[in-house]
Formats: sequence, structure tokens, C-alpha cells
Amino acid sequence: MIKQLIVWLGVAVAVSGCTDSSALRALTGKPQINSKTGLIERNFDKEQIKRGEVVYTANCVGCHGVAGAGTPDWRKPNADGKYPPPPLDSTAHAWHHSTAVLKKTILKGTPPEIGSMPAWEGKLTEQQVDDVIVWIKSLWSDEIYDTWYKNFEGKS
Ligand code: HEC
Repeated sequence: MIKQLIVWLGVAVAVSGCTDSSALRALTGKPQINSKTGLIERNFDKEQIKRGEVVYTANCVGCHGVAGAGTPDWRKPNADGKYPPPPLDSTAHAWHHSTAVLKKTILKGTPPEIGSMPAWEGKLTEQQVDDVIVWIKSLWSDEIYDTWYKNFEGKS
């Protein structure tokens, strides 16, 4: 199933084609290096984080848990072969995905034969999705954010 998800996410990226990198930069904020730790710092807009949290609390917390902690046994498939909602914090693999892939996953959900992540397109505005992604990124540790940034944003 993980394989299927990876293939599916790959297709999602291919379909999304040209991503507007300036929009992505706006989502991630300008990079700043912490002079003590040497890690990339997040300079997200605090208001946007708050708006993202409101979106999360209203729509996502029931499945993904308080503070994005997910289901304890998220690595173990349910009886129907589908996986429980994973954590969105540093402990699972949300940070293995670019902003574009996260956005696509949230807007399109996972195909019902593969997983039970609902599609939010038409229910949430793009702005709300962007806000909730910033909130998710605010959950990650400094080290994870730094790794994520270097893997995705730093390359463009
Ligand atoms: C009905 C339960 C449910 C709700 C509500 C839900 N999700 Fe999910 N979500 C899932 C499941 C299950 C998966 C794993 C998908 C799979 O196995 O294919 C998932 C996957 C994800 C992923 C990919 C994580 C990764 O590590 O690749 C993201 C990001 C995500 N959800 C964000 C959200 C956001 C943001 C909301 C609210 C707007 C939300 N989800 C609401 C069940 C849910």
C-alpha cells in the first residue's frame, strides 16, 4: 500500500505539472539560518498558523489527532487493508513530501480503494489548505524542517 501511495503521489506531482514556485516560497517564508544551530528557521506568519489551526480543529483533528499526533498504530493496516490516519508531525512522513504534494493530497484525498483520506477540494478554499499546511509545518522539529527545506525548497 505504501508503494501504491508513492506511485499515486508521483502521478499527482506529474499531473500538477508546473508548480508556481513563488507561491510555494510564499508558503514557506524566506529562509533564515539560525546562527547558533545552523538550521533553517521558519518565519511563518503567526496569524496564518492560527488560521491553519482553526481549519485543522474543524476538519482534521478527529482523524489525525490533537497536534497532528495521528493514531498510535498508524503503521498497521486496518482489517480492510487501509491504513489509519498517520501523524502529521515529525514522527511519520508528512515531511517527506513537497508543499505541492501535501496540497494535492489534501485537495484530492487518497483514492478510496487505497486509503481513507477525504478530498477537501470544494469544501476548503485553497487559502485554507495553504494555511493548514503552514500549521502542519509548524509542528515539525527544527531539524526536520531544516531537512525538509533542503530536500524541497532549497533545490529550486
Ligand atoms: C476520515 C479521516 C480523515 C480526515 C477527516 C482527514 N484525514 Fe488526512 N489522512 C487520513 C488517512 C487515513 C490518511 C492516510 C492515507 C492513505 O493511507 O492513503 C491521511 C493522509 C493525510 C496526509 C498525508 C500524510 C503523509 O504522511 O503522507 C495529509 C497531509 C493529511 N492527511 C492531511 C489532512 C488534513 C489537513 C485534513 C483536514 C483538512 C485531513 N487530513 C483530514 C484520514 C483523514
